[in-house]
Amino acid sequence: MLRGNRIALRARYEEDIPILRTGLYDDVVNSSRAEAGPWRPVSPGSKDPRLVVDDTQERHVPFSVVELDGGALVGSASLWGIDNHNRLAHIGLGLLPASRGKGYGTDVVDVLCQYGFVVRGLRRLQIETLEDNAAMLGAAERNGFVREGVLRSSAWVMGEFLDEVLLGLLDHEWKAGRAA
Ligand SMILES: CC(C)(COP(=O)(O)OP(=O)(O)OC[C@H]1O[C@@H](n2cnc3c(N)ncnc32)[C@H](O)[C@@H]1OP(=O)(O)O)[C@@H](O)C(=O)NCCC(=O)NCCS
Repeated sequence: MLRGNRIALRARYEEDIPILRTGLYDDVVNSSRAEAGPWRPVSPGSKDPRLVVDDTQERHVPFSVVELDGGALVGSASLWGIDNHNRLAHIGLGLLPASRGKGYGTDVVDVLCQYGFVVRGLRRLQIETLEDNAAMLGAAERNGFVREGVLRSSAWVMGEFLDEVLLGLLDHEWKAGRAA
């Protein structure tokens, strides 16, 4: 288990799956905004890779996010697209609706950085998010991620093309930010 200030990242448990499915992936708008592909319904028992861990996928490390105080499940997070040659990876996270806006997302990004930079020895982490996702941009920038560019009209979301922001953070920048 990896610990932050108020949350921890642990392995996915069987009992997490229906809660995450209902809270994150049954919601058409949230799912369409957070995922690269089209929304489609997820059946109970589905092996959807966002929910069911496939340990043979070495480039993708999924976590469940829990509160340190009491252990309640609050969301899902992952390091994905892990590239051990270029030593980079992407960060993804989604919190259950009742757990948003409390600072947990900022804490999750910090713990994913610990995992990526310290445990995995990566050089660079990146995040792609919709330009109007103020909470995700805030959680990233609070951890030192910098905006590196705008991907114009890169996301088809509920009937319109939206811009995405690409944010990046390098290992030495992260270490300097924590020492300050
Ligand atoms: C995006 C998400 C992970 C952020 O986590 P969070 O716990 O809600 O965010 P935090 O409470 O840590 O807030 C981060 C910053 O954004 C700000 N913020 C939070 N919610 C906000 C909102 N709805 N509107 C504007 N700003 C917001 C906070 O004030 C904070 O800014 P600060 O550091 O300057 O104080 C979470 O909201 C979520 O799961 N959203 C739905 C799924 C999603 O969008 N995933 C990301 C896909 S790339």
